[in-house]
Amino acid sequence: MSTKQEIINAFHYRFACKVFDTTKNISDEDFEFILETGRLSPSSFGLEPWKILVVENKTLRQEIMPLAWGAQTQLPTADKFLIILSRKKESLLPESDYIQNQVNHVLEMPAEVAEAYTAHFGNFLKNDFDLLVDDRRVFDWASRQAYLAMANMMTSAAAIGIDSCPIEGFDMKAVEQLLADKNVINSEEFGVSAMLAFGYRANPPSRDKKRQSLETLIETIY
Ligand SMILES: Cc1cc2nc3c(=O)[nH]c(=O)nc-3n(C[C@H](O)[C@H](O)[C@H](O)COP(=O)(O)O)c2cc1C
Repeated sequence: MSTKQEIINAFHYRFACKVFDTTKNISDEDFEFILETGRLSPSSFGLEPWKILVVENKTLRQEIMPLAWGAQTQLPTADKFLIILSRKKESLLPESDYIQNQVNHVLEMPAEVAEAYTAHFGNFLKNDFDLLVDDRRVFDWASRQAYLAMANMMTSAAAIGIDSCPIEGFDMKAVEQLLADKNVINSEEFGVSAMLAFGYRANPPSRDKKRQSLETLIETIY
């Protein structure tokens, strides 16, 4: 089979799985593969403004249940349940410890390059995208980056026959508070963007893929 066909097959195979087969577990190797595709995902300015929590703790999953209407069947059945965190404004300001560490020690920029880069980033935040007007704008910008990692993980999982469900059906503030109360997150630094369940489908998808046609989706400007 051609690579293109394999990739398209993965996109068709993926669906928003509601109920997972609780008798089947994802191997460590496969789960690491999925996470690695998240880690290698692109982010604006290469700043990786996200973090992934893997919730193995069953009590925490039960505590999330009343706060997450969109995960009622996934929380109890998914083999792996992820909470996708994104950074808040304070930790994304150019002078913040996080950004300084990222440019100097992760992106390994020489000091003078790092200085110019963070100044350019500061200008982007303030002027180009006008993100500094409130905390939520910066968090939403960070979430947009995190969603790319989510998409990549769902597609790579599908490519190896593993199912997933992205989840936004939850009370954002309440879940953040729960995680902060349990000292799982520092809510000055991180907010909750989304959740992501992985496992093996208990049932086939209940309907075919419904999408707009390419003709309606795409407009080419000549
Ligand atoms: C960001 C995002 C949030 C979603 N939230 C939920 C959710 O809370 N619960 C759920 O069952 N499905 C959720 N979905 C799944 C969508 O309903 C589903 O992807 C869409 O209907 C297309 O169907 P398909 O993924 O099976 O092709 C979400 C999807 C995305 C991309």
